Formats: sequence, C-alpha cells, structure tokens
Amino acid sequence: MKPPSAADLLHWYDRHRRILPWRAPPGERAAPYHVWLSEIMLQQTTVATVGPRFARFLARFPDLAALAEAPWEDVAAEWAGLGYYARARNLHAAARQILALGGFPETRDGLATLPGIGPYTAAAIAAIAFNAPVVPLDGNVERVTARIFAVEEALPAAKPRLDALAQGFLADKAARARPGDFTQALFDLGAGICSPRKPTCALCPWRRACQAQKLGLTEALPRKAPKPERPTRHGVHFLLLDAEGQVWLRRRPPRGLLGGMLEIPGTSWREAVWAEAEALAQAPLALDWQPAAGEARHVFTHFALTMRLYQARLPKRAKRPEGEWLAPAEAAHALPSVMRKLLVLAGISGGPYSA
Ligand code: ADE
Repeated sequence: MKPPSAADLLHWYDRHRRILPWRAPPGERAAPYHVWLSEIMLQQTTVATVGPRFARFLARFPDLAALAEAPWEDVAAEWAGLGYYARARNLHAAARQILALGGFPETRDGLATLPGIGPYTAAAIAAIAFNAPVVPLDGNVERVTARIFAVEEALPAAKPRLDALAQGFLADKAARARPGDFTQALFDLGAGICSPRKPTCALCPWRRACQAQKLGLTEALPRKAPKPERPTRHGVHFLLLDAEGQVWLRRRPPRGLLGGMLEIPGTSWREAVWAEAEALAQAPLALDWQPAAGEARHVFTHFALTMRLYQARLPKRAKRPEGEWLAPAEAAHALPSVMRKLLVLAGISGGPYSA
C-alpha cells in the first residue's frame, strides 16, 4: 500500500485550505500573537464560534502589550460567554510573562513553560507560528492518524501510539519543509473530508494510503472508551435589582470553576435538591424574594447544573450591598453563559447574545 505522502496532502491544502481569521495568506506566516490567541480559544470552542470572538478580542486587545497591560476585569468581560475561564486567566498571565521575556519562546518546550499552554497547544503554536517540525495531536489529527494506520486501540489509551505515528509523518521531507502548513492541512482534512461521521473518502488526498478505508473501518475509528456519566447538581440564585433596575453581581474567587468571573449570588451547587425554605434561609438579604417560573440548565465538563431563581427589589432608600452593580444589558455582556441564563429566566435579557 502507498504510504501517506505529505506532498499529496500539501498539494490538496494549497487548493482547498479554509480561510480562517487567524490564518496568514498562502506563503506568509501568521503573527505568533494571533496563532496563540486562536489556539487558546479553539481549545474548547468550535471554529464557528471562535471566528467572530477572535476578531472582537483583537479589536479590544490588538497586540500582546495591550493584553498584558489590561486590567483583569476587562479581559474577563471580553471572554464572557466563551467558557472555561481558566483559559482567560492563563492568557492574561502568559501575556505578562511573554512581554517580560521580550517575545514569544519559539520552541515547543519554551512555549510549554507558559500558563495555559499544554503539550498540544505548545506543538500547535511552534508548528504554525515558527515552523517547528512537530505535529500537534488534536482531535482531528487523532482521527486522521487512527484511520490512516487503522489503529484499533480506543482513546484515550491510544493517545501515545497515535502521537508517535503522527510525529512519524515528519519523516517525509515535504512535511519537514512546511510544518505549519502540514499541521493546518491535517486540521482541515480532519475538519472536512475525514469527518467523524460519513467521511467523504472519494475526495481524500490520502485515500490510497488509508488502511481504515481499505478495511471498511473509517466510521468505526477512532474507537473511544465510554465516558463516565455526568452527575447533576442544583443551585438557587438570588437576583437583586435596585430601584433603578441595576443588577447586583459579585466576583467569584480567582481560582476554581468560573474563577475571577462575575456571578449572580446564590447557594452552593450540590447534588441534593434545595428545599424552598432551606434555600431562602441562604438569601443574602431579608427581602420579599419571589420565585421565577421554571429553571435554567447548564452543562459543565464534570456535571450538569439546574438552577432556580428568586428575585427581589431593593427598597428605594436602602443601602446597596457590596459588589458590582450593572445595568441588565451590561450584565448580560459581562456574565458567563451559565449566569446569563438566569437573566433570561428572569425575563430581563432576551437571549445569549442580546446586549
Ligand atoms: N483547531 C485547532 N487549531 C486549529 C487551527 N489553527 N485551525 C483550524 N482548526 C484548529
């Protein structure tokens, strides 16, 4: 059987590459700041969602210095709605480190010393921004590699083997001549032709090298070990408006889930459902709390959350409790999605991206 040819893949890429906001035009290399930012955003967010958010982020923080010098509150507000907020904290911390270093490290190992940059991201930035001869193993590259070599072992146990096989692509000197393009060609192949379901093998530049195709296994690979079930947790939140209709928010502690982000105050999130009296005993102020109809749901990586909501108005001359007071439109902009769902439940915000 024909071995996979990097020249064939690059030839296909030169004709069919996707136009993506963080990509340089053919023959040029993208700015490291753009490559880094896009890779951090793409870690847990789809290409379709990242597109407009990447452009918006760059408009607000056009270069490394602008990001490094910005206060955390501005970065948090700009990241709101993208989820996995540790990414934003690490991005901000890494920007300050990179600025202090006088520029980006240019190797995988150098990049991997920065906050938020794990082995995959270090390899992706090294290859795309600096043409280092490494292949980053993301989900697309795992799938392409598992199929080309018909790897039957299930993920995640198969990762080291897939990584070794993917690095083996670089034995081909056509791949070593253009590691950044070769990497992005693998991404595009995996995102388009070599899709998880119904791959369009007839169009694939590596069709004749693909062992899964030969064995009729394309859709079955890569195999995946079953994921553990997600538990459900429950919380009750308290939406307090002042006499002008401003919303009371507070900032979460810097570490942990949604660390450093704004929230609508509430109970802890626990596996037992909160009885009404038990939840109301935790209300932050003694007011006439009215329940909102229904509940909001949000899915985190390790648990699903259902939230109920109580609302109250602060009497006209009452002292406002400590925290941040924002108009509903501003709150909708600055809150993470999970909290924005509570504004929707309260009927004071139309939807996820209404401003
Ligand atoms: N997924 C992860 N990184 C990517 C990139 N640079 N382009 C397209 N998809 C990606």
